[in-house]
Amino acid sequence: MSTNEIILAIETSCDETSCAIIRNGTEILSNVVSSQIESHKRFGGVVPEIASRHHVEQMTLIVEEAMKEAGVTFFDVSAVAVTEGPGLVGALLIGVNAAKAIAYAHNLPLIGVHHIAGHIYANRLIQEMSFPLLALVVSGGHTELVYMEKHGSFEIIGETRDDAVGEAYDKVARTLGLPYPGGPHVDRLAATGEATLDLPRAWLESDSFDFSFSGLKSAVINMLHNAEQRGEKIPVEQLAASFQESVIDVLVTKTKKAAIQYDVRQVLVAGGVAANKGLRKALEEAFKDEGIELVIPPLSLCTDNAAMIGAAASIKYGRKQFAGFDLNGNPGLDLEQVD
Ligand code: KG4
Ligand code: ZN
Repeated sequence: MSTNEIILAIETSCDETSCAIIRNGTEILSNVVSSQIESHKRFGGVVPEIASRHHVEQMTLIVEEAMKEAGVTFFDVSAVAVTEGPGLVGALLIGVNAAKAIAYAHNLPLIGVHHIAGHIYANRLIQEMSFPLLALVVSGGHTELVYMEKHGSFEIIGETRDDAVGEAYDKVARTLGLPYPGGPHVDRLAATGEATLDLPRAWLESDSFDFSFSGLKSAVINMLHNAEQRGEKIPVEQLAASFQESVIDVLVTKTKKAAIQYDVRQVLVAGGVAANKGLRKALEEAFKDEGIELVIPPLSLCTDNAAMIGAAASIKYGRKQFAGFDLNGNPGLDLEQVD
């Protein structure tokens, strides 16, 4: 690795337009994130068409800002990296085309990055990765346990069979009348309530590392509606705390079991739900005496950002795994096919 590898990274897979400048795969020179949450809030979720329009409006400004903040020019940049999938196709295309234009105009190599690989590599920005490792990926669209034997090798050993954790959080929050995205609100309320309600935990088959959250989500919604019909009111804090405890119990138990079974050296946590305070605390507790290093990124690197894309791209840069100018946004990109 050259001592001055500078990657300009772009992320536009959902509702954040982001550009980052990363030095040598680990040092963040800038990480500018423009969130569209305010525009989507009144619809209760991300509207793909609106997301694409925002990305178009923001893209050039965000790239300029990231370069200015980092104090670099295009002459300093070694490669341009971009999230190629999964995500919203229209949103991905804006980032991919911007990256291609910059790479073409400045004669730079282009690197396509899997969004989830990016979430996992956010950890590399705070701690060196040591293999084999296990990553717990918990985001709005994904819930996966990923085993990594070495850099760039991803084996999904467990995944959700229905809703992603973030999705369950957002749906429960919506039922409770909380604004989008609901995860942080449920987390905040859970901290002040007692987890005394009896809610299900989907353990599935005893040897399975898969997850299922739709039953829990429906149980919360039914409990709330039944109480309403009886003219009773369940305190939202109590419901939030009970829901959160059920989610955390399953996530932490399965992660710990997998980490021991696969004999990993590190457990990394990745994705927007990694910002959850209850989950962070429970994981710290579960791994404190296991001799397995637990790494959880700071909140700003848990949710979507381009710094994580730059960190993942650096591995591909070192291996000269460059994309052609036929690179396309791929909403269904498979993590295990990524090399
Ligand atoms: O990784 P991310 O930013 O976007 C995707 O790639 O999906 O994750 C967004 C998800 C949303 O569902 C949001 O509600 C959830 O992360 N989230 C949280 C918290 N902060 C964000 N869920 C639970 N507790 C939080 N503190
Ligand atoms: Zn994400």
